[in-house]
Amino acid sequence: MSLVPTVNDLSFYSDEKRHLARYQTLSKSFARRYGSEPQFFARAPGRVNLIGEHIDYCHFPVLPMAIEVDVVAAVAECAGTTINISNTDETFAEEHIQIPQDGSTVSIDLSTALWGNYFKCGLIVAHKFIRESNPQHKLKAFNALFDGTVPTGGGLSSSAAFCIAATLACLKVNGVNEISKSDLTRITVVCEHYVGLSNGGMDQSASVNGEDSKVLLISFKPKLEATPFKLPATQPETVFLISNSLIVANKTETAPTNYNLRVVEVAIAADIIAKKFSLKAAHDSNLGTATLRGVLDSYSTQILGQTVWDGKNPEVGVERLQTMLDLIEIIYTEEEKNGISTKQAADLLGLSISDFTKKYLSKFEVRYNTLNVYRRSKHVYGDALRVMQTLRIANDFDGDSEKFLRNLGSLMDESQVSTRENNNASTPDCDELCRLGRQNGAYGSRVTGAGFGGCIVHLTDVDKLTALREALVEQYYRKNFPNLSDNEIDEAIVISKPAIGACIYEQK
Ligand code: ATP
Ligand code: GLA
Ligand code: MG
Repeated sequence: MSLVPTVNDLSFYSDEKRHLARYQTLSKSFARRYGSEPQFFARAPGRVNLIGEHIDYCHFPVLPMAIEVDVVAAVAECAGTTINISNTDETFAEEHIQIPQDGSTVSIDLSTALWGNYFKCGLIVAHKFIRESNPQHKLKAFNALFDGTVPTGGGLSSSAAFCIAATLACLKVNGVNEISKSDLTRITVVCEHYVGLSNGGMDQSASVNGEDSKVLLISFKPKLEATPFKLPATQPETVFLISNSLIVANKTETAPTNYNLRVVEVAIAADIIAKKFSLKAAHDSNLGTATLRGVLDSYSTQILGQTVWDGKNPEVGVERLQTMLDLIEIIYTEEEKNGISTKQAADLLGLSISDFTKKYLSKFEVRYNTLNVYRRSKHVYGDALRVMQTLRIANDFDGDSEKFLRNLGSLMDESQVSTRENNNASTPDCDELCRLGRQNGAYGSRVTGAGFGGCIVHLTDVDKLTALREALVEQYYRKNFPNLSDNEIDEAIVISKPAIGACIYEQK
C-alpha cells in the first residue's frame, strides 16, 4: 500500500530555490494574517491529459500525468468553531466556515458560486472518511491560506488540485497523519459532485498518483488504478508543450449545457445499446445507469461469448472498441445520427417521457435542443480506441523516434477532430492554437481536459520547441491579447514534465 508522502524538503520541484521562496512568502503572509506560523503545507498538483477525453466517466482508461503547477495550503489548527480560508489570489475573498456543532457535515449552498464551496467538497469527503473509523469525530477549527499556480478554468484541473489540497489539510488537522494514495483517490474522486459536476475520476487519480518522469495509465474497471510508466525515450527528446487559450471555461457554471450534458448523453447512449441487444449491464455510471464501457463488456461476453477484457490489454481493447464503433453505425438511422429529441430517446428506451426524465434528467440539471447520442458514442469509443493505440505504439517502440512521434501526433490530432466534431468540446480559439501548433513543429495538438476553452497540449521535440513557442507567441498571444506582459505569456506557455503527486510538506 503506497502512502501519500510527507516530505521535509522541496527538492521534488525542478526549481527548488524558487519554491523555497514561494513557501517562505506564504508562511509570512499566513503569520501576518493569523498570528501564528503554519504547522504544515498540503499540496496537490494539476494534470495534463495526453489522450482520452470525456471517457473516464464511461470507465475507459485515460493517459494523463501530474504536472508541476499545484495548489498549496499553509495550515494551522486554531481555537474556536470556524474554519477560515484565505487565498493569495485576491479574486478569492476570505471565507469563514462554521463547523456544525452537532457533528453533522457542512452543507453547500449551490445558489452562489463561491470558491469556499470547492473547499467544502474537500471538507465533506475528509469528514466522511474520518467517520468511517470514528463516527463520533468532531471537526477541528483551523486557518488555511491557499496559493495556486494551476490556471483556474484552464483545463489543467485546478479544481482537483484545490479539492485534494483542501481534503489533505482537513485530514491532517483532524489527526489523520497517514492515508494511502488509493484511499485519497477514492474519497476525492467524488468531491466535485457536491458542487454539481458529474465528473469522472481522471483528475484526482492523476493528482494523487503522479510520479516523476512517468505518465499514468488510469483504469476504472475492474478497479480504479493508476499505473505509472515511462514513454519511450526518443531522440531528440519528446516534449509536451501546453498553451493556454486564455478562454476560461468554468465547468460548474456551464455544466447543464456542456459537461453534465455529455455525461447524460453517454448514459442514454449506453442504455440504448443495452436495450437494442437485451444486454445485462452494471448500473454504475454517475447517474446509476449503464456506461459505454459496461455495454462493451456485456456485448462481448453475452453476445459474442468472449471473456471479459481487463481494460489494459491494448490488442483486445482495439478489437472490441472497433466492434462497438461498427455497431453504432448500424443501430442508429441517418436521421437519429444528427441528434434525437426527448420523445425519440424515451421511445428508443421504451420509457414514458416522465420515467425518462426521472431517470436521466433529474440528478443534474441539463439543457439541450437535441440529444447527440450517436456522435457522443462515436467520440467515446473512438477516443478510448486511440488510448489503446497509444499504448500499443509505446509498447512497440523500436527506436525509430520520428515514427513514434508522428504516430502519436496523428492520434492526438484525430482526438482533436473528434473533440471538435463529435463531442463539440473545442472552441474556435482552441482550434486556432491546434492549427498553429501543427503548422509550426507540433506532431499533434489537442485540447486537454474538459475543453470548452482552456489549454492545448502539443506534442513536439526539444529541437522544434523554440520555433513552436515563438510562433504561438507571435501568431496567437500577441495578435489576440496585445496587452499581455512577457511574464503573462510565460505563464500561458509551459513545458509539462511528469511530476510527483499530492503530498504534505513539513519544515524540518
Ligand atoms: P478542468 O476541469 O477542465 O481541468 P479546471 O479544473 O481548472 O479545469 P474548473 O473545474 O472549472 O476548472 O474549476 C475551477 C474552480 O476551482 C475555480 O472557479 C475555483 O472555484 C476552484 N479553484 C481552483 N483553483 C483554485 C485556487 N487556487 N484557489 C481557490 N479556488 C480554486
Ligand atoms: C474534467 C473532468 C474529468 C474528465 C475531463 C475530460 O477534467 O473533471 O473527470 O472527464 O474533464 O476528459
Ligand atoms: Mg476541473
